[in-house]
Amino acid sequence: MTYTVITGASSGIGYEAAIAFAARGKNLILVARREGKLEELKADIQAKYDVDVIVKPEDLTVSERVHGLYEDLKQYELETLVNNAGFGNFDPVAEQDLNKIQKMIRLNVEALTVLSTLFARDYENKEGTQLLNISSAGGYNIVGGAVTYCSTKFFVSAFTEGLAQELQGKGAEMKAKVLAPAATETEFMKRSLDVEDIEYEGNVKQYHTAKEMAQFLLELYDSSKVVGIVDGETYEFHLKDPLYPYVQRSFSE
Ligand SMILES: NC(=O)c1ccc[n+]([C@@H]2O[C@H](COP(=O)([O-])OP(=O)(O)OC[C@H]3O[C@@H](n4cnc5c(N)ncnc54)[C@H](OP(=O)(O)O)[C@@H]3O)[C@@H](O)[C@H]2O)c1
Repeated sequence: MTYTVITGASSGIGYEAAIAFAARGKNLILVARREGKLEELKADIQAKYDVDVIVKPEDLTVSERVHGLYEDLKQYELETLVNNAGFGNFDPVAEQDLNKIQKMIRLNVEALTVLSTLFARDYENKEGTQLLNISSAGGYNIVGGAVTYCSTKFFVSAFTEGLAQELQGKGAEMKAKVLAPAATETEFMKRSLDVEDIEYEGNVKQYHTAKEMAQFLLELYDSSKVVGIVDGETYEFHLKDPLYPYVQRSFSE
């Protein structure tokens, strides 16, 4: 029995990705803070699909909990890890709330790096394993007013593309891939703007639904490409080879 781990599965892209992987017959381990939402999703999935679903409520901004989660995952055989949990912030740098920003960096960067590292360490030579890290179109272009958020996503893109090249160079079995959504209708905007709620219709010029984004994630999963990116102008989906320049280090030990 193998499992697909999805962080941030209680809403948005992670929630729809859980349903899409379950429809493929994949057993799931669902991670987020809101246990009730994860339990509801588990019940909905198990009413439709014959898969095992395990719920792991965790706050991934807490470093020890990230390591604790991975320790706990060692009892299962993993096939895919989707590092999707993340949030944004839309404030000029000098005005941003450092408490929120430090949490964002711990979640978007630190938790993703720790989980990716431990997963690659244990599974890089296991056939069929995949690491799918969720970046953003803002991980390839800096969006004005969201400089720090975009910087976390530049990290996700560079780290994941670099890991993909490293794994390929070693002849490893694991594939590392990066999804770069543009605006997608989820809880992202309200969390990023710290507002009660926000209607996408009428307020956001163009966007995808979370279901559409989860389908694109599966297209990336099925493909031999490393990057799944949304064109910020046309909103078309593109599967691509790594976009960042990559050079071998120029010294030996
Ligand atoms: N929506 C967009 O426009 C857009 C565009 C580009 C990239 N993205 C990226 O897509 C990913 C998914 O976001 P989304 O749009 O689906 O937003 P979302 O609906 O807000 O989902 C975020 C998920 O992350 C979880 N999460 C937040 N803080 C957490 C924490 N401390 N520990 C564990 N889980 C936590 C949330 O669950 P709990 O609150 O229950 O913990 C939720 O399940 C993010 O990495 C985001 O940066 C989104």
